[in-house]
Amino acid sequence: MCGIVGYIGEKNSVPVLIEGLKRLEYRGYDSAGIGIINTTECKVIKTKGKVAELEKLVQSENIKSNLGIGHTRWATHGEPSMKNAHPHMNEDKTMFLIHNGIIENYVSLKKGLLEEGYKFVSETDTEVLAHLIDHYLKIKNNLFQAVRYALNEVEGTYGIAVIYKNEPDKIVVAKKGSPLVIGIGKNENFIASDVNALIAHTSQVVYMEDGEIAEIFKDHFQAKTIADENIIKEIHEVDLSIDELSKGGYPHYMLKEIMEQPDSLFNSMRGRLVLKEGISKLGGLQGFEERIANSDRIIISACGTSWHAALVGEYMLEQYTGIPVEVEYASEFRYRHPIITPNDTVIFISQSGETADTLAALKEAKKKGALCLGICNVVGSSIARESEAGVYIHAGPEIGVASTKAFTSQLLVLSLITLLIARRKSLNQPEGQEIIEELQKLTHKVELILKQNELIEKIAAQYVECRNFLYLGRGYHFPVALEGALKLKEISYIHAEGYPAAEMKHGPIALIDDDMPVVFIATKDSVYEKVVNNIEEVKARKGRILAIVNEDDNEIEKLVDHVIKVPKTINMLQPILSVIPLQLLAYHIAVKKGLNVDQPRNLAKSVTVE
Ligand code: G6P
Repeated sequence: MCGIVGYIGEKNSVPVLIEGLKRLEYRGYDSAGIGIINTTECKVIKTKGKVAELEKLVQSENIKSNLGIGHTRWATHGEPSMKNAHPHMNEDKTMFLIHNGIIENYVSLKKGLLEEGYKFVSETDTEVLAHLIDHYLKIKNNLFQAVRYALNEVEGTYGIAVIYKNEPDKIVVAKKGSPLVIGIGKNENFIASDVNALIAHTSQVVYMEDGEIAEIFKDHFQAKTIADENIIKEIHEVDLSIDELSKGGYPHYMLKEIMEQPDSLFNSMRGRLVLKEGISKLGGLQGFEERIANSDRIIISACGTSWHAALVGEYMLEQYTGIPVEVEYASEFRYRHPIITPNDTVIFISQSGETADTLAALKEAKKKGALCLGICNVVGSSIARESEAGVYIHAGPEIGVASTKAFTSQLLVLSLITLLIARRKSLNQPEGQEIIEELQKLTHKVELILKQNELIEKIAAQYVECRNFLYLGRGYHFPVALEGALKLKEISYIHAEGYPAAEMKHGPIALIDDDMPVVFIATKDSVYEKVVNNIEEVKARKGRILAIVNEDDNEIEKLVDHVIKVPKTINMLQPILSVIPLQLLAYHIAVKKGLNVDQPRNLAKSVTVE
C-alpha cells in the first residue's frame, strides 16, 4: 500500500527520502516520487515502477534540499502512471502533497473546484485534495490553516504530508484512518507511514492519531486536533534494529522469515508460560481474563492470512474453552450489521495492525460495547492502539508480502489465549502442563522441518509447470489447506484452492485428473482415517498427490507421489508445524518460475484502503 516519508533538517533530504522509500517497498506499490523545496527551486520527480528507477532519475538531476517528501503509490484511483504518481501539487507548483488513503467525496469536491477554474492533470483523488488546499491557501495565506480547512471538507481516509515554498520551515501532516508517524531527531525530524522507514535515523517516534494534524519543524513539532486545539503528544521509544530489517544473507525476505520461525515462535511464547501451574501469562490481557472467560461468545475477525489464523483459533478455543466462536472476514463484518453485545469478546488479528477493514470492524465492535482485543505484530500500530487490550505476537518485522512467520506466531498466541481461558474453565493443571510441554518442544520440531528445505525444493521442481492445485485438510487442517493455497497463489500466480477434504466429493472431485496436483494435510489426528479415504478417492482418479504426514506414518507414502514428514504434536499445535512445508513449497515453486516472491504483483503488505 502507499508509503510516505518526509524529512526536514540540516542534511540533504534526497538520500533520506530514497532510502526511506526503499524501506517501504515491501508494502507494495506501482510508482514512486519525491518533492523537494530549497532556496532556489521547488521540484517534483516521479516515475512509474520501482524506487530504483526513481533513484536513477534523482541522481541524474543532482538536487539537494533540507526539506522533502516522498511517496510510493499503490493505485486506487487512476492507473499506475507518472501523472498519477505522487506528490501532487497546486497549479503554480509551489505546494506538494503526498497522500495515503482514499478521499471518498472526491467527485463532489472536484466538481466545485472545476467550477472555480481548477485544472486537473491526473485521475487521482489526491490531486483534488491538493487543489482544495490551494483554494484555502489563497484565502488563509497559511499552510497549516489551509490544510485544516480543506480536511474539514474531506470524507474518507488519509495520512498526508504537505510542503509549501512560501513556508519552507515546515511539513504539515494529518491523519485519519491511515498510519502516520513522526520521527524525532536532533535538529532534524522525519515523518513516515511506517516506523521501518525511520529507524535508520531515530528510535524516538510519535504516533499521530485520527483527527490530528501537526506542523513539523526541524527542531520541534506542534500537534493539534483538526478543530485547532493544541495537544501534547507522547514520544515512544521503538525497539527495532536495522539488522532485523535486512535479508541476513538469504536471497529473499520470505525465505529468511520462513527460516526464522524457530526464533519467532520462541519470542512469541517467551516469558508467557508457567509450567508449574500449567497456565499462560499474557500481560496485555491482565484484568480482562474473567470477562473473556465469561463471554457468551467469541468472535474473531481478520483478513487474508490472519483470517486463516482466526479459523484455527476457532477450533482451539471451542475445543478447550467451550465458548462458541465465530470467525468473520473483517470486510463483511463491518458492513453486515453484525449482532454484537457487551457480553461478546471480539478478537482482531492483524500482522500489520493497519488493515483498513480490520480497523473499521474493530471500531464497529467497540461502538457496540463488546470487549475488543487485538493480536498484532507491529507494536504501536493502529489496531493495537485502538483495542482495549491485546497480545503482541513478537514475530519481528515481516517484510515479505506473503505472511509466514507472522501466521505461525498468530497461531501460537491463539494457543496461549486458549490456555489462559481454558484454565479458568474446565482444563485442569496437568492438562495445562501438557500443552506447555508441547509448546516448549515446538521450536526444535520446526527446526527439523526446516532441515528438509532441500527435499522440498526438489519436490517443488516437479510441480512448477502446474496451472492448478487443490489443498485439502480436515479439522485443524482445513484452515491450513486454505493458507497453503493462498501462499501458492499469492507468489506463484498458480490457481490454487483450499477445501475441507470431505467437501471434495461435493464438487472439486470433478476437477481431478492426472494434471491436477492435490496437496493433502494428513497428520494423525481424529480424522486421519477419513483423510486417507479421501486420498484413495483422488488416487482412483489418477490425481497427483503430495501429502504432509507425521514422521511415524509409513502408510500414506505407499499411496501418494510425494510425502513431506513433520513431527507430531498435540492437535491444537499441529497446524504450526504442517503449514511450514507448504510455505516452502510455494516459495520454491515461485522462485523456480522466476517470480519476485517478496513483492508479488498487485499485492500489498499492508492494505490500508477498503
Ligand atoms: C494483505 C497481505 C496479506 C495479509 C492481509 C491481512 O492482503 O498481502 O499477507 O494476510 O493483508 O493483513 P494483516 O496485516 O491485517 O494481517
